[in-house]
Amino acid sequence: MSIEEKVNELEKMNLMAELGGGEERIAKIHESGRKTARERIEDLLDSGSFVELDKFVVHRSTDFGMDQQKILGDGMVTGYGKIDGRLVYVFAQDFSVFGGSMSRANADKVVKIMDMALKMGAPVIGLNDSGGARIQEGVESLAGYADIFYRNVMSSGVVPQISAILGPCAGGAVYSPAITDFIFMVKDTSYMFVTGPDVIKTVTHEEVTKEDLGGAMTHNTKSGVAHFMADDDQQAMLMIRELLGFLPSNNMDDAPIKPCLDPINRVDESLTKVVPDDSNKPYDMKSIISSIVDESNFFEIQPFYAPNIVIGFGRLGGYPIGIVANQPQNLAGVLDINASVKAARFVRFCDAFNIPILTLVDVPGFLPGTEQEFGGVIRHGAKLLYAYAEATVPKVTLITRKAYGGAYDVMSSKHIGADINYAYPTAEIAVMGPDGAVNILYKNKLTDEERKQASADYKAVFASPYKAAGLGYIDEIIQPRNTRFKLFQAFEMARNKHKSNPTKKHGNIPL
Ligand code: HXC
Repeated sequence: MSIEEKVNELEKMNLMAELGGGEERIAKIHESGRKTARERIEDLLDSGSFVELDKFVVHRSTDFGMDQQKILGDGMVTGYGKIDGRLVYVFAQDFSVFGGSMSRANADKVVKIMDMALKMGAPVIGLNDSGGARIQEGVESLAGYADIFYRNVMSSGVVPQISAILGPCAGGAVYSPAITDFIFMVKDTSYMFVTGPDVIKTVTHEEVTKEDLGGAMTHNTKSGVAHFMADDDQQAMLMIRELLGFLPSNNMDDAPIKPCLDPINRVDESLTKVVPDDSNKPYDMKSIISSIVDESNFFEIQPFYAPNIVIGFGRLGGYPIGIVANQPQNLAGVLDINASVKAARFVRFCDAFNIPILTLVDVPGFLPGTEQEFGGVIRHGAKLLYAYAEATVPKVTLITRKAYGGAYDVMSSKHIGADINYAYPTAEIAVMGPDGAVNILYKNKLTDEERKQASADYKAVFASPYKAAGLGYIDEIIQPRNTRFKLFQAFEMARNKHKSNPTKKHGNIPL
């Protein structure tokens, strides 16, 4: 073969690999409103930065006539590239090849880039669109999955791992994403389930559509499995790029600092009126968050799940921070099982990746009721307490209004390791609200008039930040208008914080 022929052969093979399962199947993917694996990578990475590996890998299976059906790349596109100039590794399942199913050979491709990502200290992004284990391969496919799961666990807390679910993902195709840090789904075209509607019908006789069972809305609102919902594949890729802008490349790195054009000492008079006079009236905690962060840019995580707590990233003076905030506008900002777990996982993520945590507190306590108690609110609430206490990153807390009972302790109080604790003059720090306290202290012994008076007396003594400030549990009571600058000062002071917990193999968080 002449050199020219060899060069042409390579060109031909590259084109064949890029065609995946063929034009007909690609057209079907497009018809369903999805993009192909390669189109997604194009949208995700900086233009022209993708370097593909293992493009000519094929499966080694012979059963079910598979030896006659080999496709270059074997339904998985893997490699590395850049996002905003920073190295990332990516794998994308190609649904046009055996439904993106996982084979031994294409699992090895994923394993290779995961090992490289760990060595080089860079995030891994998985673009999932797969019917799960390749049925023709049996246990070899299961082994491939398990090799990936193992690496997901070993990489957890070392490099950020991001998953996008971009088609029907069943069986093994959902467990790897579940171990990663953040899951993106796309409205109307992506699904996640361990067992699909047909199996459910056979086993439990329940009838459920795949949308209701495992669509983007279900996992963003009901199960809490997903963290983000995009309108289409392209938007999902743009959201991943934005998320990565807040994250360090690995656990030894600091998160990227951006130039800050928003004056750090910006005064916001409107904050003086955000907390209503009537302490039972709701208000939007996100208006305080917007006022605090640079250019009001708050990147919210899980906005549709447990909205009584708000989590997400923002920047303060250019430095990324993680924000956890009770939301009085939803269920009065109460802590329940879902809110506790949502926030605990986020606190642990921030701690693993050196991202300082701001906690904004307005919480009337834990949600009472049999549903919560039987569901294990004790154990789940304890997760949040555990996560905060264990976190060694800079922690700054601001109580805007209520900080009642156990929830006061849990929400990054001084006692469990916050570095600076601020309160607004409107803060109320007590064991419980005035009416509840009077009920317990006096049972039925008071007239209505006396009850009102006792409640007012209790409020006068406890429903303020001054008792806590007098004990040093609150470091400073701040003017709301100066919130942004005060928080910046606190985080700036704590920037070089060094703290380590006692040596141990690992703790035993109440899972
Ligand atoms: C091999 C598969 C496949 C699989 C789909 N295909 N899933 N090939 N192994 N797991 C192939 C189909 O034969 C078809 O090939 C092509 O992919 C597209 O599939 P369609 O069914 O035509 O597409 P669609 O109607 O969109 O349905 C997609 C789907 C469905 C919902 C994913 O294919 C499906 O239910 N697949 C099986 C899901 C499943 O039960 N997987 C095993 C899970 S067990 P052609 O040639 O016609 O294009 C598992 C264990 C791991 O994963 C556990 C680890 C913990």
